[in-house]
Amino acid sequence: MFQKGIINYIELEDKFYDYMAQIEKRFPEGSENFLAYLRDKTGFFDLPASTKYHCNYKHGLLEHSLNVTKTLLDLNYFIADGKYSIESCIVVGLFHDLGKGGYDNQYPYIHINGKWDYNKDLPIVEHQDLSLYILGKFINLSQEEIQAILYHNGQYADDKVVAMKEEVLTLLVHWADMYAAKHERVEYD
Ligand SMILES: [Fe+2]
Ligand SMILES: [Fe+2]
Repeated sequence: MFQKGIINYIELEDKFYDYMAQIEKRFPEGSENFLAYLRDKTGFFDLPASTKYHCNYKHGLLEHSLNVTKTLLDLNYFIADGKYSIESCIVVGLFHDLGKGGYDNQYPYIHINGKWDYNKDLPIVEHQDLSLYILGKFINLSQEEIQAILYHNGQYADDKVVAMKEEVLTLLVHWADMYAAKHERVEYD
């Protein structure tokens, strides 16, 4: 069950690095460059996951990404009989929303007058496309992982090209994303 109260950032970070250790072999040249990029060029660790829905507070994107990863691992184990590797579930779960953290020091969320809002100065790029773009610089993804990240919005996506033809991983991450978002904390004004 997801935590309802204020979450300690140190705990989130610990869990994140625990997952990272489990996917280290997915980084052909090690994960150091990727981690430095996340820390120095994106807001992955600090930005919210949304402006007014789930995890709409500082570190919310990290919290949401961890929640989706845990749910996806559980769904893969209990529903899909472990069809996908743990590494695959972690890569997709942890980084499906990577694009929400921004790219090259350009951040999609800004904090103004005590509230989070969209940064309207940036060109519009869907966050799932940006997730894939950033991730692709550091690791090789399988075609199933690519589809799962690109279409994790499932029934809510504008692009219905994979509708009814989804890989199981795409269905699992969509449901994990929805389940997590439904149970996560929201801060109201
Ligand atoms: Fe998303
Ligand atoms: Fe998400």
